Parts: sequence; structure tokens; C-alpha cells
Amino acid sequence: GLPVRIEDPKCVAKTFPDYFEAFFGVAQASRPTPVICIDGPTASGKGTIAGLVAERLGFALLDSGALYRITGLAASRAGIALTEDNAPAIAELIRRSRIGFTPDQRVLLDGEDISLAIRTEDASMNASRVAVFPAVREALLQVQRDFRRLPGLVGDGRDMGTVIFPDAPLKVYLTATAECRAERRYKQLISKGLSANMADLLADLQARDARDMNRAAAPLKPAEDALHLDNSEGTIEQAVQQILTWWEQRQPFAPRA
Ligand code: C5P
Repeated sequence: GLPVRIEDPKCVAKTFPDYFEAFFGVAQASRPTPVICIDGPTASGKGTIAGLVAERLGFALLDSGALYRITGLAASRAGIALTEDNAPAIAELIRRSRIGFTPDQRVLLDGEDISLAIRTEDASMNASRVAVFPAVREALLQVQRDFRRLPGLVGDGRDMGTVIFPDAPLKVYLTATAECRAERRYKQLISKGLSANMADLLADLQARDARDMNRAAAPLKPAEDALHLDNSEGTIEQAVQQILTWWEQRQPFAPRA
């Protein structure tokens, strides 16, 4: 076969969005589809940074936290208490639900736009409650792996590098101090027109971190091969640049020796 390398995959995004499906109808990938994992605690800036990295590279984006938020919301709306006993019913509910992400980042549940409903503090807490259940994590495993498509994926969450994409060529563990994260979350909520209180936010964020880090199933922790990035001081753009530089250094498309 004739090796072909596409140096600027995002150039097809507008005029030929199905380019890679068509291309791989006639060609074979010589390596696994690249994935960049960005894991870290609540409000560390993962979502914004992952979105920008994906945009610059022309990669798809997986906001895995949204899946747990959707699950928590779907269960609450169905009147299912978020208890261990109900974990199989919650997992079954999410298997049967139609989850959709639109190109402009809106989140759909059975056709309804729930983008705002999943961002409240209540929804955040419920997400971290259902995320403790192994049956729920299992139900969402393949959903997440199905996001991996050419030309590449940026996944953000808690276990992208440790559980979902352990073979990813670049894993980043993004952190910032709790105070700094609470302040960012405050600004984020206010900008969305949602109400917020700093002291409550800090307490919620610390409770959520503790639950995410101490649970038995896929706890939040850096993958052994993750590169650490503290985002307390720098700007979003600096963090994006750092990740793009690391990606460049990994040279995922360098010719084989
Ligand atoms: O990232 P985000 O804050 O939207 O995630 C909401 C919750 O979903 C987290 O607090 C965590 O409990 C859970 N989650 C998870 N694994 C992921 C992503 C999110 O357990 N990969």
C-alpha cells in the first residue's frame, strides 16, 4: 500500500465533514486512532481546555462528565432514588435512553435539550453519586469508546487515561487549587444566568472531589504515564499551548524507524 499522511485534518471539517468515513472506506489506518486524555478534579478547566485542543487539532471531543450528568438527571426525572440498590435500574435506564451531542455542544436526552439542566450544582452532585456505581460505569464504557474516531479524539473526565483509553499516546492530569476552581465555577454559573454562592460552591466541590477520589470504581487519580499540568496561575491559552506542545513532542505521526 501507499502510505498517506494528512497533516491538517481539520481542513475538511466544514466542506467535507464525512471525509474520514469516506477515506477509510478505501484506505486502512496503520495505527490506532489517536486520543488525548485530559483528566482532573472538578472545575480544573478541563472542559474549556479540551474543547480548544480538539478545535485546534480538528479532533472530536468527548465530555465524559456530561454522560454522568445525563445519567443522574435521567434517573432523578424517572423518580429513581440514587442508591446502590437501584444501580442496575439506573444502568438499564441509561442504556435505553437516546443521548445526543450536537456539533454546537448542546446535549440531548431523548430529543430534549438538557444542556442547561445538567449544569446546575444539583446535577453535579447527582452525577458524582451515580458515577460511584460500577453498573453505571459499565453501561457508559462503550458509549465513550465509540467517540474514538479519525482523525482523533480529545476526552476529558476522571478516568479517560486510567480506564477508558489506557493506550492513549498523551495523558494530561490537570489540577488547580480548590479556591481557584471554586472561583472559576462561580463565574461560569453566573455567566450562564444560574445562581451561585462561593462558600457553598467550595464545599460542594470539595465533597465531589472527595467522592471522586475515594470511590472504589475508577477513582480519580493520575494515570502512571500522565503529564501533570497545574492550571492555578496560568491562562487557559497557556494550558492549551502546553498540551499542543506535548502532543507535538509525542510525534504521533512520525515515520516509523
Ligand atoms: O466533569 P464533570 O464535572 O462534568 O463530571 C461530573 C461528575 O461525573 C464528576 O464529579 C464525576 O463524579 C463524574 N465523572 C466520572 N468519570 C468521568 C467523568 C465524570 O466519574 N470520566
